[in-house]
Amino acid sequence: MFTWESLENACAQCRACALCQTRTNLVFGVGEKSAEILLVGEGPGEKEDLDGVPFVGKAGQLLDDMLKIIGLDRKTNVYIANVVKCRPPGNRDPLHQEQAACLPWLREQFRLIRPKIVLCLGRIAAGALIHPDFRITSEHGQWFEKSGVFFMALYHPAALLRDDSKRPETFVDLKNVEEKILQICSHTVLNKY
Ligand code: URA
Ligand code: SF4
Repeated sequence: MFTWESLENACAQCRACALCQTRTNLVFGVGEKSAEILLVGEGPGEKEDLDGVPFVGKAGQLLDDMLKIIGLDRKTNVYIANVVKCRPPGNRDPLHQEQAACLPWLREQFRLIRPKIVLCLGRIAAGALIHPDFRITSEHGQWFEKSGVFFMALYHPAALLRDDSKRPETFVDLKNVEEKILQICSHTVLNKY
């Protein structure tokens, strides 16, 4: 069994897939380790690889704005990680074998956090965590319960930057998340209440 410190130290040494050869920094995760809400993206982009922190580029700024709408932020009440911890070159999708090699790290993070809600950002994370043939256009915003934990996929913020027309649906999904938080999380979770 890992503690946070031993997990982070072990992960930092990981060479379980070829992405270790091209990474600048491994991107482990950021946020509140006792959060009831875990957010999972796909993998580090260029800025994340340089900084070693998830969602610090343009998509990350939009993510922070999205979270703020429902009283969430990475400093106090969510933890943010990715399916793969090292950047896929040129921001290509992580391969199945890379995802499979990396998922044990996320599983350990999940075990330590014990979130009540897991929000998958985009198709890749939803495919890895909810079900393998996940269709983001038809299945975003739906709840999937697994062993008492509620999973939902949202459009990836990078997809919202490319296509503004998806934003209203994402707003509806976020309000749905807010409602679930009010139902099942401690009432102090949302900063605005
Ligand atoms: N996109 C992701 O999926 N994860 C990050 O950390 C940054 C961009
Ligand atoms: Fe290890 Fe994951 Fe990085 Fe591959 S992507 S080297 S499995 S930490």
